[in-house]
Amino acid sequence: MLARETYEGRKMKEGKNPVFLRACRREQTEYTPVWLMRQAGRFLPEYRNLRRQYPFLTLCKTPELAAQITLLPLKTLRVDAAIIFADILLPLEPMGMTLEFTKGEGPVIHHPPRSRAEVQRLRPIEPESDLSFLLEAIRLVCRELAGEIPLIGFSGAPFTLACYIIEGGVTKDFIRTKSLMYQDPLTWHLLMERLTEVVISYLNAQVTAGVAAVQLFDTWAGALSPADYREFVLPYNKRVFQGLPTSVPTIHFAINSAGILEAMQEAGGDVIGIDWRLDLGTAWQRLKYAVGIQGNLDPAVLLGSQEHIQGRVTEILRAAGGKPGHIFNLGHGVLPHTPVDNVIAMVEAVHRLSKKE
Ligand code: CP3
Repeated sequence: MLARETYEGRKMKEGKNPVFLRACRREQTEYTPVWLMRQAGRFLPEYRNLRRQYPFLTLCKTPELAAQITLLPLKTLRVDAAIIFADILLPLEPMGMTLEFTKGEGPVIHHPPRSRAEVQRLRPIEPESDLSFLLEAIRLVCRELAGEIPLIGFSGAPFTLACYIIEGGVTKDFIRTKSLMYQDPLTWHLLMERLTEVVISYLNAQVTAGVAAVQLFDTWAGALSPADYREFVLPYNKRVFQGLPTSVPTIHFAINSAGILEAMQEAGGDVIGIDWRLDLGTAWQRLKYAVGIQGNLDPAVLLGSQEHIQGRVTEILRAAGGKPGHIFNLGHGVLPHTPVDNVIAMVEAVHRLSKKE
């Protein structure tokens, strides 16, 4: 149904051991695989058209539409993996919170739980019934891709989810989150316990439904000092990674991670995702090449010229040095006004410049 012919060429070459999964396992690949965080949505005209007709949460909760959006970037961009169209905040509703995506402000959580009693009232989730729409979307996409192009599932990490929950939405300074952490550590740890269980069951359900890899978005973990990361976050992320099946590779991502890079590795993940503030070569060396590395083009580079994009792609590939285990990506999500042609040019440049003879 959905542009089968465009997958055909790659299907023949890759068989059922796609280049993205091999790179996650740090095996040699013919070229460096590439996908983009937030590739499903935001900048694609087809997505923006759908958004004129439906609210964001309706798109997430309608499996046929979520599957269609997931597949959009494969058609136009020739990326090496798909990521399921969903959101890290979807589990909050079945936990008992009221979630709304407002124009301009982003996500809003009404009456954010901050007291011990409110946190205690948060419920565990049962993904098969609470989030059946997501699992159905995963099954639809997997049927379409037939194992040829891997589908990535994802979750927010407990800390990043806690930030949205406690702040009631987007924040720049994390004041409420840190206040709770320092003023009422028992409530903090209780919230993190609850979220850890939610994340583990959310990701396991996605694996059972068919995703080939998972990414844990701990987007905001770099807002903490290394000591606080170790005390208030690391043990929970470790439990998440230990709670996942070893059959699928795992990617552990944060921005601003210079101070916590080794601690993130300690928490887990087959691949560590970094942003553009770090030199990829230096970061990988710090990780002792014991894990794969994902990244790390500044998404804003895609707003510039294609010559400049190609130059930056070349630098990142050089920093990776052709070692097995590099997955090319942006350092954070693709920006809403990014020209599609520039993304196509970037993906093409990664494939062409990394190709081994
Ligand atoms: O990568 C993909 O394309 C898959 C889908 C995906 C979405 N959100 C869809 C989405 C993924 C992987 C996410 C992750 C996510 N969501 C994160 C972690 C990654 C990151 O960017 O830091 C976070 C923090 C969220 C929470 C969230 N969802 C915010 C802050 C917002 C508003 C700002 C924004 O990104 O537009 C969202 C809304 C959201 N999630 C949209 C999409 C396509 C835009 C909704 C719209 O169309 O209006």
